[in-house]
Amino acid sequence: MKILSVVGARPQFVKLAPIDRAAKAAGVEHIIVHTGQHYDPLLSDVFFTELGISAPDVHLGVGSGSHGKQTGAMLAALDDVLLEHQPDWVLVYGDTNSTVAAALSAVKLHIPVAHLEAGLRSFNRRMPEEHNRVMTDHAADLLLAPTQVAVEHLQNEGLGGRTVLVGDVMTDVLYAVRDQIQGAPSPLVSELQLTPGSHYVATIHRAESTDDPDRLAEIATALANLDKPVVLLAHPRVLAKAREHGIELQQGSLMVHEPLPYHDLIASVMASAGVITDSGGLQKEAFLLRVPTTTVRTETEWVETVELGWNVLALSAEEIAAAASRPAPAATDAAPYGDGKAAERVVEVLLRGQR
Ligand code: UD1
Repeated sequence: MKILSVVGARPQFVKLAPIDRAAKAAGVEHIIVHTGQHYDPLLSDVFFTELGISAPDVHLGVGSGSHGKQTGAMLAALDDVLLEHQPDWVLVYGDTNSTVAAALSAVKLHIPVAHLEAGLRSFNRRMPEEHNRVMTDHAADLLLAPTQVAVEHLQNEGLGGRTVLVGDVMTDVLYAVRDQIQGAPSPLVSELQLTPGSHYVATIHRAESTDDPDRLAEIATALANLDKPVVLLAHPRVLAKAREHGIELQQGSLMVHEPLPYHDLIASVMASAGVITDSGGLQKEAFLLRVPTTTVRTETEWVETVELGWNVLALSAEEIAAAASRPAPAATDAAPYGDGKAAERVVEVLLRGQR
């Protein structure tokens, strides 16, 4: 069997790592296509190296652009790649422009397409990720859902017959990396001379947080006024938008730092007092590490993190300050994101050809 994975953005490389490993272990041929949506070494190459992912077989090099131009360039380029490789399955990941482009290319060429992390919904139709995931789910032949809630969303949309609950592949990576670094000091804590447990880790990159200058300024001021140092691991998008709008990020408690490789990110979250983020993946990673999180959004797809008390949604400066400094919630051994073996299940399901 031949699986062809299409990836392009940072969180997809993390999800690719356990799939690549499980495919190799099962003796399955695995072709990796990198669209080039993320091209900075810190957003791309570093993940391939440190997570031991095979180098991409094909690199489309599309780079940045408006949604239409970026997605269109990928779609045009993918036709030739899929026709050349003729995979048994095209596997697409998450909810980026790379995901929807690959799903559309595959379905139009009548090549079976499976969507990993299917069924997540924010029900916020202004989010580019929501458009991407809804369109991808409805185009795909096989929907690999990470949670029971995702399964229910797919059933409600009439897609239950194509859905399989496999668990969350990010949990696979996270548990493996957590166990590797257990007890090791956080390089970020040493570099910035912080005291473990006395800082927050923040990431802000979504269009809803960065593109409106007033909103970005409000978030920056909220973080700058927090009660502990806040290390903002700054995605290039937030730096570019802050520069464009003349917003000073390095102020008060707020310290700007470049994005971290995966092991260092996990070590820095484990050493922190809490996470403040608009990232989907980081909310869940912090929950799995049992680090309290404040999510700077109106809603989350990972509703279990909120229901279990480890994640609080906060929008205004006051809400962010109150949520970040709240006491840690009650301990829980709930495991809504699976057992860390989702990738093996994905490969099994693909091998069975189950639709
Ligand atoms: C994309 C995904 C988002 C995901 C995020 C993970 C879409 C619609 N969004 O957002 O769901 O959470 O990746 O990080 O697909 N840039 C660079 N270097 C890079 C890549 C981007 O400087 O390597 C800058 C460019 O200014 C670019 C901007 O970041 O215009 C936005 O990049 P883009 O790929 O459009 O979306 P992300 O914000 O990264």
